[in-house]
Amino acid sequence: MGDHDPQGMLDLVLRLPVFCRQAWTLGREVVVAARPSAIVVIGMGGSGIGGDLLRALFLDDVPVPVAVVKDYRLPAFVDRAALVFACSYSGNTEETLAAYDDASQRGATCVAVTSGGALRDRAAQRGQQTVLLPPGIPPRAALPYVFLPMVSALSHGGVVPPMDDAAHEAAEVVAAVLNAERPDAPSSRARALAGAFHGRIPVIYSATPFLEPAAQRWKDQLNENAKTFAVWNTFPELNHNETVGWGLDAALATHLAVVVLHDPHESDRLRRRVDITKDLAFGSAGSVDEVTAAGSGKLARLLSIIAIGDLVSVDLARRREVDPTPVPVIEELKKRLSESRR
Ligand code: PA5
Repeated sequence: MGDHDPQGMLDLVLRLPVFCRQAWTLGREVVVAARPSAIVVIGMGGSGIGGDLLRALFLDDVPVPVAVVKDYRLPAFVDRAALVFACSYSGNTEETLAAYDDASQRGATCVAVTSGGALRDRAAQRGQQTVLLPPGIPPRAALPYVFLPMVSALSHGGVVPPMDDAAHEAAEVVAAVLNAERPDAPSSRARALAGAFHGRIPVIYSATPFLEPAAQRWKDQLNENAKTFAVWNTFPELNHNETVGWGLDAALATHLAVVVLHDPHESDRLRRRVDITKDLAFGSAGSVDEVTAAGSGKLARLLSIIAIGDLVSVDLARRREVDPTPVPVIEELKKRLSESRR
């Protein structure tokens, strides 16, 4: 990546399969009750997306509700029968800490997922379980660590069916996808997509709600790595509002670059919706592309399509000549918030 990636974000993306395997083993140590009343994941930004992925992963198969909290406050239903994962890579994110304190006070079973900071200290003081993550990685590059230990713990604890094979498949499929799509690969679609996004506003649509967190992750990675604005939405909901917004002036629409994320298992009705919408609405878009997740299991499908988005974001950073790693606006905001409390 030359001068524009001095801290090696591309290398971190290429290490996703290694991180997946390590993250899976970390969750094995966690002890969870087999029938919690709810599974609640607290986390913001790069440490919160794991909760969204967990919810999508278990929606069809697990009879326990999964809630994701991206707030200082917990929903009223969280009580002592709930299982709460508090995820903060740094361990110092104030929203996560506030909601975690509340969960502890309510007597919920809490598991801290962190590399250190106040979250680690508080969990130790309270005698609560901690999944200790390796330090020194930007939180968004540590995605497997803030997602897979939860899945692994739930799988090994009997809350969900065994998923070791699914985790193994996911790491293999992600490795194959990264190999094929890395920006220096001869026919990398990730590189082509970064070219389509360059100079435009990326619009990321998931063809199915199952891939919603993947669409959000693409947007987040484009924001933080490529330092660009981007939006995301999902079928079928977008057909009931946003599709009308494509009636915008054609000159404006040319500045929008659409990519639709497909799941090989999405229903025929959803696929039909995408086709009709392309015909009705995207005629003046600057570009329209489609990407399909790889693998057979849900874990592999979610993580493989995320891996492509991660590569796109890093290649767009290269084209924009920006360093993908630092996020000074987030750091400054946290600094000012912390100063305002003193
Ligand atoms: O990507 C990032 O750096 C952010 O989205 C962080 O993940 C977010 O600010 C929360 O911080 P942490 O992950 O340390 O809890």
